[in-house]
Amino acid sequence: MTQTGKFKRTLVTTALPYANGPVHIGHLAGVYVPADIYVRYLRLKGEDVLLIGGSDEHGVPITLKAKREGVTPQDIVDKYHNIIKEAFDQFGITFDVYSRTTTETHYQTASEFFKKLYEKGEFIEKESEQYYDESAGQFLADRYITGTCPHCKSEGAYGDQCESCGTSLNATDLIQPKSVVSGSTPVMRKTKHWYLPLDKHEAFLKEWILDGHKEWKPNVYGQCKSWLDMGLQPRAVSRDLDWGVPVPVEGADGKVLYVWFDAPIGYISATKEHTPEWEKYWKDPETRMLHFIGKDNIVFHCIVFPAMLKAEGSYNLPDNVPANEFLNLEGDKISTSRNWAVWLHEYLLDFKDKQDVLRYVLTANAPESKDNDFTWKDFQARNNNELVAILGNFVNRAVVLTHKYFDGKVPAQVTIEEYDRQTLEEIPVIVKKVEDSLNNFKFREAVKEAMNLARLGNKYLADTEPWKLIKNDEDRVKTILNISLQISANLSILMEPFLPFTATKLKNILNLDQLTWEQCGKIDLLENNKVINKPELLFEKIEDADIQAQLDRLAQTKEANEAAAKEVMPAKENIEFDDFTKLDIRVGTILEAEKVAKTKKLLKLKVDTGIDQRTVVSGIAEYYKPENIIGKQVSILVNLAPRKIKGIESQGMILMAEDANGELAFVLPEKTIKEGSEIR
Ligand code: MF3
Ligand code: ZN
Repeated sequence: MTQTGKFKRTLVTTALPYANGPVHIGHLAGVYVPADIYVRYLRLKGEDVLLIGGSDEHGVPITLKAKREGVTPQDIVDKYHNIIKEAFDQFGITFDVYSRTTTETHYQTASEFFKKLYEKGEFIEKESEQYYDESAGQFLADRYITGTCPHCKSEGAYGDQCESCGTSLNATDLIQPKSVVSGSTPVMRKTKHWYLPLDKHEAFLKEWILDGHKEWKPNVYGQCKSWLDMGLQPRAVSRDLDWGVPVPVEGADGKVLYVWFDAPIGYISATKEHTPEWEKYWKDPETRMLHFIGKDNIVFHCIVFPAMLKAEGSYNLPDNVPANEFLNLEGDKISTSRNWAVWLHEYLLDFKDKQDVLRYVLTANAPESKDNDFTWKDFQARNNNELVAILGNFVNRAVVLTHKYFDGKVPAQVTIEEYDRQTLEEIPVIVKKVEDSLNNFKFREAVKEAMNLARLGNKYLADTEPWKLIKNDEDRVKTILNISLQISANLSILMEPFLPFTATKLKNILNLDQLTWEQCGKIDLLENNKVINKPELLFEKIEDADIQAQLDRLAQTKEANEAAAKEVMPAKENIEFDDFTKLDIRVGTILEAEKVAKTKKLLKLKVDTGIDQRTVVSGIAEYYKPENIIGKQVSILVNLAPRKIKGIESQGMILMAEDANGELAFVLPEKTIKEGSEIR
């Protein structure tokens, strides 16, 4: 019987990563390595399976990043889509298709999906009041509004969350809200959106998940149960934004599908792009669908997307959603903004060709049932003590001895003793355990069991010591090496899902073609007298210095982060308004600029202040070249008493913003304005 039971084929999807940054070990450990292991396993069993992936290219963070960098959202997603795709490829994630959500096909598919629900009356239309930026002429997504947090009073909280205290917010909670687009104060304005009435699907979802899928992982089932127990609300599936799939109905100008509406449809679009038979994978009840995701995606894949599919009416629902928890790095949450991560493309620069080592460590330590920690020491220990000392060492000894004693020809089993029999009998038992673990999405357990086959072999060689027997009992050595080589051949199949690069090397050494999972557990994979190739080390030791370099890099990151956090100056003592009005700050234009001789930091500037033209000495030479700032408008304090600096009289002061690292930036008017304009 096949493991898929009543199903004829399997569709495996992997969460579409946002194309606004590269991917790191957390992505790999939580989603892509487990999905790839599973799919490779099914392929070895000869099953019909597709692995679907792609980049999620919509959503507000992408538009904000584009704005900050002065490029288009398409520029951003083009860049990261390619980086991400390349990284997955290098780590041997065998997608049948890796697509993206800005393709024609996707726009069409997502539009049609929406239209179908719209025409079936599956949405509610509702007007609500939302923040609107009058000077920019646009509605503001939550992330486009900042203000003071009502809880901790820190500034720069976003309309959906305060990053200082972590509270989730509504945009209307913010004190003194400001538009990120123009800096102006937004106003409330009516807008219309489409909502998916999840409450309408609640009874069905409860029955389908809580009664029908008790076998789901406890972390997944538990999260679903708590959502369902709280009661479901209608969810808006559109947004006022100009980046995304346009809402395909009349009167929806300036509105796009919410990113979480279009992204999972991306799985369908990608399948369409891969095969004209895509419907078979999505609609035939004999197809089994699995979603591999991280825990922050559970509600969308177990509740929202299934409700969408159900409302549409012709699609299958997922059979399982083996979501993982999070991976931390050296005790801290992985964070892109704090650069606290091991980026996949950087890992390979430091650990060339060691994809399998990372795959192994991330699997052996996968955050399957709780959050887990990646540490470089553990990485080193697992490489040196497990991959090198057990798997690599065993295979190497078997191959080297075969060459040394038998010219590289597989010797025959001559006589089987009790210990040999026990060892041979253990092989299919281990294979069965690996299989059971894989069938239940327990990848940690599976790789540990697979490693036990190498342990078995290692122990067998150590106990039988063929190198001592060779003088007096060549027949015995023949048997021992045959058995050791058969175990090695089994390892080349069993390890393939986990360590695909190593499995290929091993097959090359043993002169084996592609084997199937069905052959795993057999003890005649290598026929007598077959010539095997020269040994080649499967793994090499990782030295302390290599690990220390990684730890040093992280320590530096931590130091920089801490300095940056500390050095945001606490607010100074309050002053009266009259104190402030004593400052006469004006808009000026830099007319001339030159370096002050024999200094590193100083520039001598001539500034048109509207009142007069005057000389100012400014400590900005390390950040600005004279030729680049001529013509720039700046803010200048004009009533600062003149001071002599390096023999030059400085009449006033240019205002600069300075961060914790001493990086400087001019404070300039947001648009060109007449010199002499007062700043207050
Ligand atoms: N981009 C989302 C994230 O990184 C995942 C989207 S999964 C899909 O959290 F279902 F929407 F495709
Ligand atoms: Zn706060």
